[in-house]
Amino acid sequence: MLLLTKSIPLVGLLATASLAAVTGLRSRQTEPSSFNLYAYGGEAIAGFPVFYADGIAYTGDSTALTGVDEVTDVNLTASTDGVWTATPVSDVSWTSKTFYISNSTGEIGFTDAGNSSSNIITKSFSFYGNFALLRANGKMSASWNAKETDTDNVWTLSWGDADDDGSLIPLMLRNKAPVQPPAGA
Ligand SMILES: *[C@@H]1O[C@H](CO)[C@@H](O)[C@H](O)[C@H]1NC(C)=O
Ligand SMILES: *[C@@H]1O[C@H](CO)[C@@H](O)[C@H](O)[C@H]1NC(C)=O
Ligand SMILES: *[C@@H]1O[C@H](CO)[C@@H](O)[C@H](O)[C@H]1NC(C)=O
Repeated sequence: MLLLTKSIPLVGLLATASLAAVTGLRSRQTEPSSFNLYAYGGEAIAGFPVFYADGIAYTGDSTALTGVDEVTDVNLTASTDGVWTATPVSDVSWTSKTFYISNSTGEIGFTDAGNSSSNIITKSFSFYGNFALLRANGKMSASWNAKETDTDNVWTLSWGDADDDGSLIPLMLRNKAPVQPPAGA
């Protein structure tokens, strides 16, 4: 489900570019092979990096999060079928994990490579320009949200329709860092 709030940047891009230009962009556009993800949403989430803690994807101030065993920033690479592989930046117990969305709960995290559970989506992630998307059934969707945690300035990522739940902040995930890092990043 592509949210109205999320479709604006995409529609905006399409509206301001001629069809020829868009077609050119499409055919020229190659997925970034190596990238970091940054979350943008609401007033508070102004380009915080997406980071890993105990298997779950978070954004915000990673140094503020307590009560977890392993926290690390991640570098990501994309395969041709849109599998995103995370490499930890800090010294943790693992060397490689696969980015996923749970299609039963909308939870977003990092699982073992090759996890073939039918409850998680681990491929068809993509970019439109520098906006992260999921390509499913011929559609591009970007239903990223942030959900508050018990820690100020730290949110978990989730996927789904933010209208169902007032506690979710619609997000854009981009592979582009903010010009100025947000306070606490
Ligand atoms: C993560 O990416 C940054 C920027 O490209 C790079 O400088 C750093 O060496 C990478 N770290 C690891 C552990 O791959
Ligand atoms: C595979 O993913 C499922 C669904 O999220 C999870 O319950 C399970 O623990 C994962 N398995 C491994 C080995 O990470
Ligand atoms: C979850 O998504 C995967 C990949 O698109 C699909 O194969 C699977 O059937 C889905 N599972 C559920 C419970 O919708």
